[in-house]
Amino acid sequence: MRKKILLVFGTRPEAIKMAPLYKKLKQQEASFDTRVCVTAQHREMLDQVLDFFSIKPDYDLNLMKPNQTLNGIWADVLLGLKPIVDEWKPDWVLVHGDTATSTVAAITSFFSGCKVGHVEAGLRTYNKLSPFPEEMNRQITGRVADLHFAPTRTSADNLLKENIDEKTIHITGNTVIDALFESVSIVTSDKYTNDEIEHLKTILDSDKKLILVTGHRRENFGQGFVNICEAIRDVAKSRPDVQVLYPVHLNPNVQRPVNEILSGLENVRLVSPLSYPSFVWVMNRAEIIITDSGGVQEEAPSLGKPVLVMRDTTERPEAVEHGTVLLVGTDKNKIKEMTFRLLDDNEMYLKMSQIDNPYGDGKACDRIVSVLAKA
Ligand code: UD1
Ligand code: UDP
Repeated sequence: MRKKILLVFGTRPEAIKMAPLYKKLKQQEASFDTRVCVTAQHREMLDQVLDFFSIKPDYDLNLMKPNQTLNGIWADVLLGLKPIVDEWKPDWVLVHGDTATSTVAAITSFFSGCKVGHVEAGLRTYNKLSPFPEEMNRQITGRVADLHFAPTRTSADNLLKENIDEKTIHITGNTVIDALFESVSIVTSDKYTNDEIEHLKTILDSDKKLILVTGHRRENFGQGFVNICEAIRDVAKSRPDVQVLYPVHLNPNVQRPVNEILSGLENVRLVSPLSYPSFVWVMNRAEIIITDSGGVQEEAPSLGKPVLVMRDTTERPEAVEHGTVLLVGTDKNKIKEMTFRLLDDNEMYLKMSQIDNPYGDGKACDRIVSVLAKA
């Protein structure tokens, strides 16, 4: 009997991390009948990923609204997904990580009697306000899930401490590394052409050190983002030898301070969110990455790029322990101080730019698929 598998996702990072898993499951048509439901919690940023990985969703809830609320997303996923799972009755619903989409999809599937597999399970800060609301999202999903695909030993240990049955926990590595390896091999091949990358080449100054910036966390909205932008402005103004590239997240709470504080500076380029291959290309080209993103923290060690993380806590301690990631919070002076140190202290730079990744080896999807085959 073929197992019916429904992957549900809605935001850019979930799509990037579920894409290689979808592809692997689709390659095993004889064992799995695989479908995708996108909630479209993100619209444009999701569609960029679907295009690159050639994924055509079977269902699209198309729920994104401008400046949407958490309650609005929860209500729309809860009601929108129910008829789909009730009608198709998947054996397994696979959700990813800690977004509103993934938690509500897990709960909806549980209400409808479907089993839930949680990809990227067990990440924890145990601080319910940081990251907000993601820490509670993943704890709730962890209670509901029947299978837990933990990326690392640390994340598996968190689940064990919460008395989750050991037999349901599988250490797989993070699927983001599978996605990254696939994308790097495409982007670096001679035949590959991409207009966006060609455009980036025209706006990036090859004589300057490139600092790549991204940011979107809800707990940083308001003063946190003002501090971040002022720090970047001060670095750019005092260092004409660097250039900052900032693909700005489409959330209006991010767009506002970034445009107000950073537009018009000669060596700062504000651009729209980049497609995944272009972002991989630019990560590879960057000297330093400054971000509050979860996924970027996981990808950068594979490319040997030092990362300053603008958060006070991280559910991804492995790269901090490993030495490639440093937490700087949203303290303006700390962001500036550590950026200057990385620009000027060669020894520190070399220590933080090891090419070795604690999050995976690019085979996470194979491991997840073989667990599902026996489940
Ligand atoms: C969401 C996730 C967060 C994840 C992040 C990845 C939750 C609660 N938050 O946060 O965990 O780390 O995605 O980026 O699930 N927008 C667009 N077009 C897009 C995407 C967003 O216009 O393609 C704008 C819309 O106005 C939207 C707003 O951004 O209402 C916020 O989107 P939302 O998904 O609620 O929050 P994120 O900050 O993106
Ligand atoms: N990313 C992208 N284009 C961009 C910025 C980021 O494709 O302009 C990718 C990045 O490589 C990573 C993912 O998006 O895989 C991270 O998404 P985000 O930071 O929005 O979410 P988080 O990982 O924090 O949940």
